[in-house]
Amino acid sequence: MCGIVGYIGTKKAKPILINGLLRLEYRGYDSAGIATMEKDGIKIVKEKGRIANLDAKEEINSLEGTIGIGHTRWATHGKPSAVNSHPHYDNSKTFAVVHNGIIENYHELRKFLEDNGYHFLSDTDTEVIPNLIHYYYKKEHDFLKSVKLACDDLKGSFALEILCNDYPDNMIVVRQDSPLVIGKGLNEIYISSDIPAILSFTKDFYFLNDREYAVLSRKNIEFYDNNLNSIDKMVKSIEWNTASAEKDGYEDFMLKEIYEQPNSIRETIGSKLSENKISFTDFEISKDYLETINRIYIVACGTAKNAGLATKATFENFCKIPTEVDIASEFRYRDPLINEHTLCIYISQSGETADTIAALKLAKQKGAKTIAVANVIGSSITRESDYCVYTHAGPEIAVASTKAYTSQVVLLNILALYFAEVLERVPALEIDNIKKEIMDLPKKAEITLGNVAEIKNFANTVYKETDIFFLGRGIDSYVAEEASLKLKEISYIHSESYPAGELKHGPIALIENDVTVIGIITNPKLVEKTVSNIQEVITRGAKTLVITNQKINDEQFYKTIHIPEVNPCLSPILSIIPLQLLAYYISKEKGLDVDKPRNLAKSVTVE
Ligand code: G6P
Repeated sequence: MCGIVGYIGTKKAKPILINGLLRLEYRGYDSAGIATMEKDGIKIVKEKGRIANLDAKEEINSLEGTIGIGHTRWATHGKPSAVNSHPHYDNSKTFAVVHNGIIENYHELRKFLEDNGYHFLSDTDTEVIPNLIHYYYKKEHDFLKSVKLACDDLKGSFALEILCNDYPDNMIVVRQDSPLVIGKGLNEIYISSDIPAILSFTKDFYFLNDREYAVLSRKNIEFYDNNLNSIDKMVKSIEWNTASAEKDGYEDFMLKEIYEQPNSIRETIGSKLSENKISFTDFEISKDYLETINRIYIVACGTAKNAGLATKATFENFCKIPTEVDIASEFRYRDPLINEHTLCIYISQSGETADTIAALKLAKQKGAKTIAVANVIGSSITRESDYCVYTHAGPEIAVASTKAYTSQVVLLNILALYFAEVLERVPALEIDNIKKEIMDLPKKAEITLGNVAEIKNFANTVYKETDIFFLGRGIDSYVAEEASLKLKEISYIHSESYPAGELKHGPIALIENDVTVIGIITNPKLVEKTVSNIQEVITRGAKTLVITNQKINDEQFYKTIHIPEVNPCLSPILSIIPLQLLAYYISKEKGLDVDKPRNLAKSVTVE
């Protein structure tokens, strides 16, 4: 889960690399380093800690080179330290490498290299790579061939940028299961783990498939397949604007992204639904095919998985197909029952989550059709799946996902309704009514954001708590799960979520005077049941916050936040918003780094 950047052009590389690393810092921030091609060969500067520590180093100012590579690390093998940070040289200092991913057979390779006279300075898996390249280079005397031979020996995942002293005007990049994008400017090329980090420099991108190689020079990029045959690649223009990758006056990315939701919801709706017509130009799913489907799996990790849970009922109620939601890291190892009658939907903001991609490959092998719901254009999952649909959330930078979640819930609802229209298993009028309600969501999201002052006050009264509980029934229990995740991610407060009816089977033992319990009540059919569960915790002294769009006697609660009413299957899109704000303001009250919570990374490209 590291981040890599690269530059090759006519400007000084160092400030460009540092700028790119700062934008990628969300991917890992325990150490960082850069290497540039200087007149007397490759120079590396690296340091433990944040990018600011690296940039403060005296020696970094002497780097003048116009070609360079950079890395921000999230430790997997070897503790965070200067020596374990990237870039890594080979023993002869002919090559420098940065790597995102994990080399699974590095013990074996290290032993092989040690037997051949190489020694190692770090505890990382990465250090075998430059040495292996050097091992082949001694025989081949060719940069590209040696990189390819070394990559042939690597098992695991990698996105690599490589410099070689004997080729001072080139850089080679290659990837396998880890993200890497190449941005083309005028006489300059930018490389990065994601698009937003280099969006201010170019909008034209190339994407490499697994084990494709790019040899970069200032004016030119040559692409090769895994057999080193030359291949052509199409450039793709990215529409995201630079402002959407900046804080734009907000104190933090997370706050900005929460406030962007009316717009990201509008954009996502607009891409698929207008004038009450749903159109998925990205793919054609026939009635004949859909009628053969007897099970849908929705598979994802973290917040994306919670978006799946929030839409399970729409698929079941409108398509009449049993729908299961699974955690990708579990799904891939539990031999799920999949065949050609199964449809698998994979949700991923980044499109790079290793477990989600592996779970997708598994379903393909077993003969199921796969649909990716992704946010990042051109990301790995979009290339692996049979079909791909994009949320239009724009770049999401804060580690804690907000606008991607609401866009995913919107898009999955539209997808379910699209299938429902094709299948004709429920009256068309029912579907039409929901479509109309979807069109009102951006306006209602804006109204929901209007509760910010009350949320801020509540955050102020609970930020010192050590435990907070979330309750809800049906779809509200899934929002409770997402709200609880948001809170623990950025405030480090222990929190749990429960379907309200489960309360009596354990968690109520934890409720005592002044424990905070947050209830979500949006389904008219379940109001009384949930209110009654909340009364049970009030009786035991709990301090309660209720988020609701129903008319309830709210005097019984410590605080109530009213949000606009909407069809229950769409309610998570609105009811999560006050709870995202709550997590945000609690984290701020505690003085924490909201955008970069400890130990977490935005995209988890390792298992
Ligand atoms: C990490 C992030 C979460 C995200 C999850 C899945 O844990 O911190 O915010 O929900 O990965 O990421 P994806 O990119 O696949 O949606």
